[in-house]
Amino acid sequence: MSTTTVTEGDGPLDRSVDKERRATIAVAAAVGGAGLIAAAVPFVTSFLPSERALSAGAPVEVDIAGIAPGEMRTTEWRGRPVWFLNRTPQMLESIRRADKEVADPKSVRTAYPTPAYARNEYRSIKPDLLVAVGICTHLGCSPTGPYASGTNAMLGSNAGFLCPCHGSVFDLAGRVFQNMPAPDNLEIPPHKYLSDTLVLVGDDSKA
Ligand code: FES
Repeated sequence: MSTTTVTEGDGPLDRSVDKERRATIAVAAAVGGAGLIAAAVPFVTSFLPSERALSAGAPVEVDIAGIAPGEMRTTEWRGRPVWFLNRTPQMLESIRRADKEVADPKSVRTAYPTPAYARNEYRSIKPDLLVAVGICTHLGCSPTGPYASGTNAMLGSNAGFLCPCHGSVFDLAGRVFQNMPAPDNLEIPPHKYLSDTLVLVGDDSKA
């Protein structure tokens, strides 16, 4: 397990990721493009669900109290990684800046329907905490990131995650940028807050 905190940078801003650049991204990533990925601040401490929860595909409780601002952790739910990103005010600002650059800013597409409570700009119940399935909606690769704002000119200043397989780029709300292979935003799993610091993934039923 490892932990990394994302910090905000103020590097060159360059937004549009056209097909040619995307191809470059994909190729670079495929051959282990260290220079490209070096600007990333990869993340993650894993929360480990109980064996019983894993085997049953049951909802998973996650204590989010220890996630520092800018930090992302992951857990497993039904065999898939679920990200918990504690977004800083700067990260939320980058999401607002990305509104005009993403393909489906209001998450109305239905390939991976976004729950009503996350169908907003930040795609979350509370603005600071992103809860998302870390699987690309194109062909199922696992995107890398989160990327600090402005640290990677090739991806664009508002990029949050990169799928290395075919170059789809997502913002820090999991919204796919325009003209990317991925047909939809990253999936938001059903979830709800059991308390201010406890989130249940896999169940959003009302009590
Ligand atoms: S699997 Fe992510 S871009 Fe193709």
